[in-house]
Amino acid sequence: MKHLLSSKELTQEETLKLLARAKEFLPVVRHEPGGAGVHKRVGLAEGKLLATLFYEPSTRTRFSFETAMFRLGGGVISNAQMETASSAKKGETLFDTGRVVSEMADIIAVRHYREGACAELALGSRVPVINAGDGAGDHPTQGLLDIFTISEELGRLTDFTIAMVGDLKNSRVLHSECALLKHFSGVKFLFVSPEGLKMPDQITEDLKASGFSVTEMEKLEGAIAEADVISHTRIQQERFASEEEYLKYKGVYVITPDIMKTAKESAILMHPLPRVDEIDRAVDLDPRAKYFEQVSYGVTMRMAILAELLGV
Ligand code: NCD
Repeated sequence: MKHLLSSKELTQEETLKLLARAKEFLPVVRHEPGGAGVHKRVGLAEGKLLATLFYEPSTRTRFSFETAMFRLGGGVISNAQMETASSAKKGETLFDTGRVVSEMADIIAVRHYREGACAELALGSRVPVINAGDGAGDHPTQGLLDIFTISEELGRLTDFTIAMVGDLKNSRVLHSECALLKHFSGVKFLFVSPEGLKMPDQITEDLKASGFSVTEMEKLEGAIAEADVISHTRIQQERFASEEEYLKYKGVYVITPDIMKTAKESAILMHPLPRVDEIDRAVDLDPRAKYFEQVSYGVTMRMAILAELLGV
């Protein structure tokens, strides 16, 4: 692996290696039940520097990368406002930004509002570049941490039913999950969305052509009862042309304790966060809710990704 720009380009072997590596790091990051930390530091990336370049808002992803690098023993340089507080404002190209930052850092994580922008920056870079989310395209590290969560919390990555719910058109997270789940057999996909926010045809057709069962539906209820994994998403307001268009979909699927009563006892509920109104806070008390655990798994998975790309 030279860069990590797309979840589609990850082979099954690379995916399994990252899952195995992330598991090795679990004792470094995982919180004990009740919140007591067992945070440690390992010295693998001693003397190495991660640059985080974010052209789009983030809470978890940027902190997660930075926490992961710190736990590996490395250092971080960071700009969370690349759009307004970097030379991008003066017209510097992504290519040049990549070239310049790679003179200083050993690895770069980039988030951008435009699909393909991270790959453009990687062209100029002489060090590995990680896509931390590009437009509605791809979010490979979130996809990886999500399948790691399924592996740990459901206990398997084969033979299960996943209900993907919400803004399937614009959720880069779900696009990445689909690409990665193709490496595993017996996964049944239930795509739950309003007609206007359906999963892009290319993804649906690709899964079907690879032999997966895919069912598209608008109603949440049936899907919840059947699912082993519920992967919920926010309606991606920033990808809509107008506020009016967004308001047509806001609040369309809200998970409540009542809805969770219809889910399997063994099911898990995931969400990459941030949530707006699509999961009632009362659901947080349900042991099947795993969206805060996903945050810890994210740090662990990003340690694995950084270590692999740094070759340490
Ligand atoms: C997601 C993203 O940025 O795509 N957030 C994240 O990285 N955890 C999901 C979202 O913003 O809805």
